[in-house]
Amino acid sequence: MRLLLLTHSFNSLSQRLFGVLRALGHTVSVELDIADAVTEEAVQMFKPDVVLAPFLKRRIPETVWAQTICLVVHPGIPGDRGPSALDWAITRGDAQWGVTVLQAVHEMDAGEVWAWEPFPVRFGATKSSLYRREVTQTAVAAVLRALDRFTHGGLQPAAHDSPRSIGTWNPLMPQAARRIYWPTDSTATILQKIAAADGSPGVLDTLFNLPCRLFDAHPASEQVVAVFSDQEPGSVLARRGPALLRRTLDGAIWIGHVRQEDATPSQPTPAQSPATNALKLAATRVFSAQSAALPEMPVPLMREDGDWDELRYREFGPAGACVGWLDFEFHNGAMSERQCQRLRDALRWVRTRSTQVLVLAGGQEFFSNGIHLHDIEAAQRVASDSAADASMRNINAMDDVALEVITLTDRITVAALHGNAGAGGCFLALAADVVWAHASVVLNPHYKNMGNLYGSEYWTYSLPRRIGEAASRALMQERLPLTASDAVSRRLVDTSFGEGAQDFGEQALERALALAATHNLTQCLAKKQAQREQDEAHKPLADYRAEELQRMHRNFYGFDPSYHVARHHFVYRKPHAWTPRHLASHR
Ligand code: COA
Repeated sequence: MRLLLLTHSFNSLSQRLFGVLRALGHTVSVELDIADAVTEEAVQMFKPDVVLAPFLKRRIPETVWAQTICLVVHPGIPGDRGPSALDWAITRGDAQWGVTVLQAVHEMDAGEVWAWEPFPVRFGATKSSLYRREVTQTAVAAVLRALDRFTHGGLQPAAHDSPRSIGTWNPLMPQAARRIYWPTDSTATILQKIAAADGSPGVLDTLFNLPCRLFDAHPASEQVVAVFSDQEPGSVLARRGPALLRRTLDGAIWIGHVRQEDATPSQPTPAQSPATNALKLAATRVFSAQSAALPEMPVPLMREDGDWDELRYREFGPAGACVGWLDFEFHNGAMSERQCQRLRDALRWVRTRSTQVLVLAGGQEFFSNGIHLHDIEAAQRVASDSAADASMRNINAMDDVALEVITLTDRITVAALHGNAGAGGCFLALAADVVWAHASVVLNPHYKNMGNLYGSEYWTYSLPRRIGEAASRALMQERLPLTASDAVSRRLVDTSFGEGAQDFGEQALERALALAATHNLTQCLAKKQAQREQDEAHKPLADYRAEELQRMHRNFYGFDPSYHVARHHFVYRKPHAWTPRHLASHR
């Protein structure tokens, strides 16, 4: 079939559908939903059998849906309508939710249901986590079923797929419904409110008497709470990494990220969160002066308990066949200079541990998305800093992390991708000997989409050594997302597995333990060390880095401002003005 993906942005769900549908042999093109005239033109040019809308914020024009079947993906059960479907489901505490594929008509989300699939709502998951995992997985199944119905001649949806009365219309969730009442709300209620608003629009609140939106919240451990048991709910108590600790009625929470509210916010349109000039940043960065006065509460890197921090290291298995497991749970997979330095230091310490395998587990949501573009943008506003300088420092810090991994030759290194990876984050994974990915992961192994960035992280060493020169060039030029199975077939990833959210981690640990107990591990490691020495003699890693950074220097400081423009648009989520040509094959 000829399928046109019409979407507000080429987000994780659209990317996944793009990959899955192409793998099934469909001809897929993409048009970003910019204006009705542009959509009409795209349909005329591409002549799709079906227009698929995975993520829309506006109605499809009648000129299009009256001529061509348009199937809209709605992250809600049949009958549910409105722009805050997941927010309401989390807030109500629904145990089951669903994804519906319905036909576009005059009214938004009101057309005939072509297919729908339920999913269990993962307890404690944030909205964006549910969207990236359960919604995406379920949407793929529902879309495939709807398309199957289309190919088998059923222009009419099947009656049993139209239980239209289950859900109802729900408006855009107002901040009033999200509001936290610190003196009376329990920890669980506050976490639920922040989860329902994460990553957008956040919960409007105040910190240090300044209005801001809260994101990225985690419960504090009992030991931490015990230290501050006499404090008032709502008071800010301590700091750890990016986060501030805040007392609740029955405990405390860590707030990792905040966005300060503008002095004069513009009015939101019904389907949008307010436009803002403020960036979502680490709470300790936004309130750096106030945080400096708070006690720091570090935790050991190696710990068995679930006390929250961005980094955690554990060991599994017997001596001689031991697996080290390093989680780096950086919000949104973005790695600032500070976070890279922490990770580099953690890797240096991990080197001293006697293990046979080191698993780099990244975060549950994202493995990594490379340098921290929000943090870099924020440097523009610091008197003695600039975005170019901050970019250079960040990429150097990122390279230091990759270097630690590449030069860790006395054990097998495994990158285990629980979540998606993009740009430098993909190449950080390739610094490891072995790469495993969750079956539903999407990878974006290229840099050019961010204003023609050249990229670093030693990719010019690690990519060709894995897939060869020609395939590396093709991958970088295509600039397309790869599903996990695409990535395996292109030898970027060694294997993909896992069904649910937990399954991948459990299987990855089993596989890592088996690797650590391999009978010929000594020979494998000797081979690895010899290969590294040979590679170093052929061309030192320092040369790869210097060459890459020379190109990056041009991206950051050169006369072509593309990277700075692209980053600015990305962090402020500016609407797209055109569809990139590598996606819009009909153009
Ligand atoms: N720096 C800072 N924030 C980042 C980031 C980065 N490198 N990559 C992603 N994010 C943030 C987004 O701003 C967004 O924030 P939100 O909390 O306000 O929603 C969140 O992570 C999710 O990103 P989104 O683009 O919505 O996710 P996606 O799954 O649809 O797309 C990518 C994934 C990787 C394609 C996309 O995020 C991307 O292009 N990231 C930039 C990668 C990059 O160029 N890195 C720099 C060069 S190394």
